[in-house]
Formats: sequence, C-alpha cells, structure tokens
Amino acid sequence: MTEGLKPFQLPGSWVDNFVMSFVASGHEGAISVKEDDSRFVFKRVEQKSDELQAYETLPDELKPFCPKYFGSHKTEDEAFLMLQNLVYGMKNPHVMDIKMGTRTFLETEVLNEKRRMDLLAKMVKIDPNEPTEEEKQLGITKLRYMQYREKLSTSQKLGFRIDAIKIHDEERPSLSQEHAKNICDVEGVHDALNVFLCAREDVKEAMLTQLKELRNVLETSEWFMKHEIIGSSILFVFDK
Ligand SMILES: Nc1ncnc2c1ncn2[C@@H]1O[C@H](COP(=O)(O)OP(=O)(O)OP(=O)(O)O)[C@@H](O)[C@H]1O
Ligand SMILES: [Mg+2]
Repeated sequence: MTEGLKPFQLPGSWVDNFVMSFVASGHEGAISVKEDDSRFVFKRVEQKSDELQAYETLPDELKPFCPKYFGSHKTEDEAFLMLQNLVYGMKNPHVMDIKMGTRTFLETEVLNEKRRMDLLAKMVKIDPNEPTEEEKQLGITKLRYMQYREKLSTSQKLGFRIDAIKIHDEERPSLSQEHAKNICDVEGVHDALNVFLCAREDVKEAMLTQLKELRNVLETSEWFMKHEIIGSSILFVFDK
C-alpha cells in the first residue's frame, strides 16, 4: 500500500455517470470509482482470475506499462482489483482500448462442443450465407462462433482490434464497442485512429515511441516468455 493511502476499502457508493464518462468499453459494472476519491478504479474480476494473478506476479520491468496495482479485495465469489485511475486529473480524457492478439479467448472457454441455435442465430444475423447446411440444422459451437467473429474483425489479420474509443468532442462521436466490431481492415483502423487522435501529431509520436519501448522490454522479459497472455488490452489515454 502506497504511503498516505487508507487501507483497502471497497467503494461505498459508485459514481456511474462519472465512470461512464471515461470508460471506453468492457463488461457492465466491471469498473467502479469511489465517490470521494477518483485516484483509483476498482475492477471486478472472478476470484481465480488470471488478471489478478498477473498483477500479483508482475515483474518490475513491466510495471511502468501497467496501471499501478494497490492490492485486491476478495469476497466469497469475486475479487476487486484496486488500480491507478489512468485518467485521474484529466479535464478531457480521450481513451482508446485495443484488444491484443490473434485469439482473444481462452481454449478453456470454448471446450464445450454443444451446438447452439442462439449462436447460429447471431451468425445468421451478421451473414446468412456463413453457416453450412449442416450447421443451419444443428447449430454451431462456441468455438466456431468465436473464430468467425475474429475473422470478421482485424484480430486474425493484424493481431489486434480496436475495442472502443471514448472521446468528448462536439463534432465527432465516440466509437462504441458495437461500432468498433465492424472495423475489418487497415483502412477502418486508420479512420478510427484519426477519430481518437483528433489531429494530435504529438500524441501519435508518443504512442509510437511508447509502443516501441514496450516491444523492447517484452522481447527481453523472462516473465513474458513464460506466459501466454490472452484477452489483454493496451489502453491509450491523453488529455485533450
Ligand atoms: N486503470 C484504469 N484507469 C482508467 N480507466 C480504466 C482502467 N482500467 C480500465 N479502464 C477503462 O475501463 C474499460 C474496461 O476495462 P477492462 O477492459 O479492464 O474491463 P473489461 O472489458 O470488462 O474486462 P476484460 O477486457 O478484461 O475482459 C477500459 O476500456 C477503460 O476505458
Ligand atoms: Mg476490456
């Protein structure tokens, strides 16, 4: 615990409107902030979450690239991570969440081979010609659906996808997760980056520099070599 901080306390009252003003994407209710102290965000995770373990074991070389971690609070069936709020103090935070990897789900999430008609319906809604005749009769597995989704986004092609962008600009809207799902090629990524950057060349340069620094550190990190990191994001923030 950092000096000057009170012992870990869960937020007594959530400030949802405030949270919604800077959270780009994510599961509903996953991120909360204390009403009287927005230096931290609290992230709700499963008790045996890999994310919790990652923060607990994070090596020194990767700490500069992650929000500061102040410990966790475990309840009976879930846990809360207390993290540095990366937009604390910003007047007009612009936030972009980029989901990394050509695969963004764990193999254990898709072991179930049950054929599902609800997933077939979702697929048909996107493209009625995608399922085979057999699939139309029997439904599709979760693995088939997830792989199809990743083929549609840039995950499989580029190894990342823009998950969402939150900006506060009267002339331009943010890019919700729902809309970001439709970005399927490099051109779409360029357009989205321009929405996020709002013509800030300095931010573009800083992003490049920081990404190169991160790559250099990852290439020599023993911890990174020994772990498979699935479903992680790189979060870009700047104050406009
Ligand atoms: N430390 C932080 N500081 C500021 N904002 C944050 C922080 N962590 C997360 N956020 C915001 O909350 C959003 C959701 O967070 P996150 O992606 O961690 O949750 P999730 O999508 O529910 O979980 P996951 O991506 O692990 O499945 C992010 O897009 C970002 O805008
Ligand atoms: Mg997320």
